[in-house]
Amino acid sequence: MTLEVSDLHTAYGLSQILFGVSLTVETGECVALLGRNGVGKTTTLRSIMGLTAPHRGTVRYNGVDITGRPAYQVAKMGLGFVPEERRIFPDLTVRQNLEVARKAAASPHGKAWTVEAVFETFPALAALTGRKGGFLSGGEQQMLTIGRTLMGNPDLLLLDEPSEGLAPLIVRDLGRQIGRLREQGLTILLCEQNAKFATKLSDRAYILEKGHVRFSGSIDALHQNEDVRRQYLGV
Ligand SMILES: Nc1ncnc2c1ncn2[C@@H]1O[C@H](COP(=O)(O)OP(=O)(O)OP(=O)(O)O)[C@@H](O)[C@H]1O
Ligand SMILES: [Mg+2]
Repeated sequence: MTLEVSDLHTAYGLSQILFGVSLTVETGECVALLGRNGVGKTTTLRSIMGLTAPHRGTVRYNGVDITGRPAYQVAKMGLGFVPEERRIFPDLTVRQNLEVARKAAASPHGKAWTVEAVFETFPALAALTGRKGGFLSGGEQQMLTIGRTLMGNPDLLLLDEPSEGLAPLIVRDLGRQIGRLREQGLTILLCEQNAKFATKLSDRAYILEKGHVRFSGSIDALHQNEDVRRQYLGV
């Protein structure tokens, strides 16, 4: 067992967003967290990561209760969060963006990422080492954002809508690269509105609607369940 989220209730002030979200991600799995706009996908990741503390429920990582621990502590335990809003430094070069995100030591299990290893995973970035972050395309920024998180040597990657706003060809490349990360042993929780993209990469899926889990099961089960897809994904 890697990640075990149980009965999460999370609110921003008086507005409650999550109503008992439970999910698991096993070591080596890629699990999709799907759902339309505003259903609580990002809030679920923020609750796991300790960026927004849930008021009920638990998050366990490798058996340890990490509920509500501050994000820097959660990151130290091996969770890496790739935010939706690609937070890179616009005035630093690609290489500098990666270097400032470097962590001293690898986790006991994982590999110690280097700038060169990130370039191997994302060859498009290797050609842009000296370019400032602010001049990158959306796809390049997404790769750099993932690269920055990798420099923290995570075991489990929480990816928030990596395909958002990218052209189909770039999304295809990104899918391949995420697939490679998985082959290298990373465990992944992949939040997406783009169900087609996410299910190709994943072993299992959860669907959120209005802060509730409405479906959980294998990708095959999801493909066979037209009602669920139409009702909660619109595909
Ligand atoms: N900081 C905040 N303060 C108040 N409400 C918020 C805040 N962040 C998000 N919300 C609200 O919480 C709900 C769930 O948002 P969340 O970002 O978790 O959804 P999402 O599934 O990630 O959606 P999207 O596909 O748009 O990224 C939305 O109604 C949103 O308006
Ligand atoms: Mg979101």
